[in-house]
Amino acid sequence: MKILNFGAGGFIGSHLTQRLLKEGHQVTAVDLHADKIDGILQHPSLIFIQQDIRDAGWHLDRLVKDADLVIDLVAHANPGLYVRIPLEVFRLNFTENLKIAEACVQHNRRLIQFSTCEVYGRTAATLKQAKVIDPDDPIHATFIEDESELILGPISKHRWIYSCAKQLLERVLHAYGLEKGFDYTIIRPFNFIGPKIDFLASEQKGIPRVFSFFMDALLKGMPIKLVDGGAQRRCYTYIDDAVDCIYRIVVNPNGVCQRQIFNIGSPRNEVSIRQLAEIMKEIYAVQFRAPDVPLPEIVDVSAVEFYGEGYEDSDRRIPDITKAQTLLQWQPKWGMREMLETTMSYFVKEYRSRRRYTPMTAED
Ligand code: NAD
Ligand code: UGA
Repeated sequence: MKILNFGAGGFIGSHLTQRLLKEGHQVTAVDLHADKIDGILQHPSLIFIQQDIRDAGWHLDRLVKDADLVIDLVAHANPGLYVRIPLEVFRLNFTENLKIAEACVQHNRRLIQFSTCEVYGRTAATLKQAKVIDPDDPIHATFIEDESELILGPISKHRWIYSCAKQLLERVLHAYGLEKGFDYTIIRPFNFIGPKIDFLASEQKGIPRVFSFFMDALLKGMPIKLVDGGAQRRCYTYIDDAVDCIYRIVVNPNGVCQRQIFNIGSPRNEVSIRQLAEIMKEIYAVQFRAPDVPLPEIVDVSAVEFYGEGYEDSDRRIPDITKAQTLLQWQPKWGMREMLETTMSYFVKEYRSRRRYTPMTAED
């Protein structure tokens, strides 16, 4: 297939592009950056177009018309940005993505649209009026694609603009499906982790996701910061498991993915953010610790201190993956500890090779 992949230079996009090429597809990759795919830029089946999709008058239409399938991963996807640049989050994640979707509608091309598990918002158990007997029962935090309520906080908590922009895009795609027979599939990822996720927090401008803050703190011996105590819970999914599911959606056996929404996540890999910090610290101490860098302490910070005004967290989210299991026969395989070990090993090697650091041996 000729696949047009927007956001192919990002974390998920780089792994997916590699897989698409391995499966023999021709890929046109569009992104602002290519550093995460620089190892495959010379591949004969890859065309990389460095392009800001917000530019006026670029050849979006021609590219869409020329493709058999369009995948859209472009977004501002890090919570720090939702608080700092909410208008830009809305503009990119809704307005600009809508242009891609509408080009697909116009040229009758299938679209795989990346949305987010953040559309589910908070759990019903956190609502003031909630009368649940056991608020800790996972049933209150298990989200089902076509059934769960989507519960967002007040407008003043503008973190939710990301969730809201993605949700609105989902609703518009659904409406195009109803009115024009548009062929789309929506993916809601649940906290993927793996090599190439974001960047070490202190090394670039911007605000990465939690793994990259913790990894940075471990490598540099700086405090690991837990926002509001770290009781929030997430289910982490290894990128190889995720790409395996995404690829099944690309293949779309017998059209089963048409106009479907899929959660992609690993319900068994649930941890609190405090546990995430503790496991990463323990793995680092045993496997990667540099003798000249102290092991960091884990400290508490408030959300306002860390992100600024307007932040509100998702308390807990567990994916129901029955749909992907039954329609796509997909099953995530990676456990929490092994995905952290593999991802941390990648970042440690990458960091130390940049610094020409000599790693410790087992005898050290
Ligand atoms: P990412 O930030 O690594 O990738 C996004 C890519 O989009 C980047 O390479 C970036 O350069 C590109 N991009 C941004 N603005 C652009 C522009 N104006 N023009 C062209 N390219 C531009 O994020 P990711 O983790 O790979 O996420 C990919 C998608 O999946 C996003 O839509 C995100 O919202 C969604 N998602 C990801 C996760 C996750 O666990 N990683 C979870 C939920 C949702
Ligand atoms: C993220 C982003 O919204 C999206 O990329 C995506 O939609 C979704 O998750 C996903 O990956 O599925 P979130 O999980 O809140 O949302 O993002 P992180 O930045 O990874 O934060 C996770 C938790 O760690 C939050 O509770 C945050 O407050 C906390 N945190 C973050 C810390 O305690 N310390 C830090 O240094 C950074």
